[in-house]
Amino acid sequence: MPLILAIETSCDETAIAILRDDAMLASEVASQIALHAEYGGVVPEVASRNHLRTLRPVLDAALAKARIALPDVDAFAATRGPGLASSLMIGMSAAKGLAVGFGKPFLAVNHIEGHLLSPFFGKGGVRPAVGLVVSGGHTLLVDVTGAGQYRLLGGTVDDAAGEAFDKVGKLLGVPYPGGPNVNRLAHGGNPAAFDFPRSMLHSDDFAFSFSGLKTSVRYLLPKLVGAPLADVCASFQEAVVDVLVAKSLRAVRQLGRATLAVSGGVSCNTRLREKLAGACTADGIELLIAEPALCTDNAAMIAHVAALRLAAGEASELTCDIDPNLRLATA
Ligand code: KG4
Ligand code: ZN
Repeated sequence: MPLILAIETSCDETAIAILRDDAMLASEVASQIALHAEYGGVVPEVASRNHLRTLRPVLDAALAKARIALPDVDAFAATRGPGLASSLMIGMSAAKGLAVGFGKPFLAVNHIEGHLLSPFFGKGGVRPAVGLVVSGGHTLLVDVTGAGQYRLLGGTVDDAAGEAFDKVGKLLGVPYPGGPNVNRLAHGGNPAAFDFPRSMLHSDDFAFSFSGLKTSVRYLLPKLVGAPLADVCASFQEAVVDVLVAKSLRAVRQLGRATLAVSGGVSCNTRLREKLAGACTADGIELLIAEPALCTDNAAMIAHVAALRLAAGEASELTCDIDPNLRLATA
């Protein structure tokens, strides 16, 4: 069983994972959230400098945890894109350097594919499913027929789901990042207190739109003086969740799939998990969602895709460059 070491530095997390087959020997994530919080968002230059500074200690920590040494590694992988160019460059250069230094294969991995396949990790392998990727940068519904075989069903026409959470969090004065904090504040709130729009809920496609929802929160704000923040957060969250659940389930039914695989940072959302679980149980659909640590950015999902590619006899050229705008390769 090959030993894979993967590096993920597409945004503000410096992450390194070591995998042997389906066993995760280490998955270290150094978050920069505290550094970027004072700016209310990720500052690329700050992120890049910190990847450089943190990479070595994170690597040492991962090796120690996995109880292996660098010469034991059979292949080195890194996130190629999408993401911030100056951040991607750090992880890709490091992985290429290690691959050259130790004379091992190098694999460049698509970050979205990492998320998309993460729910299958340790759950019996990739199988036909509808994949919902909901992160800070992406909201996609994908027909998955196997590893590397994807058909795009639809995506957001404006903001990604996580982006909507983060922007609304900012509007409400909630600390960065908005997603987890809006989720936390929504606990105990009344999800029916405000009737926010469910954009494109009934559209005859698999597209999403979240910017109108964000705008309606903005318009409502001046009238909300005194309204419990928990009610606003719960109502906003409910609008996002309702659309994600309805469209995902419709896709599963329409395609006749048995499995829904949900991934990306927003899949940590407790209300989304609750409503998806209820809807899937009611419809006899298998719901795959990774544990929260594997939903937000991590390197285990990158190592997982690299392992699948390596098993299929694939590797990347060392000339393969980062691509900040990389898209999921779909049919
Ligand atoms: O997958 P991820 O870590 O990074 C990207 O590839 O974008 O996703 C980060 C996004 C952020 O927008 C964050 O606010 C959102 O996921 N997020 C959440 C929750 N946890 C993270 N959104 C809603 N509820 C959560 N519990
Ligand atoms: Zn991500």
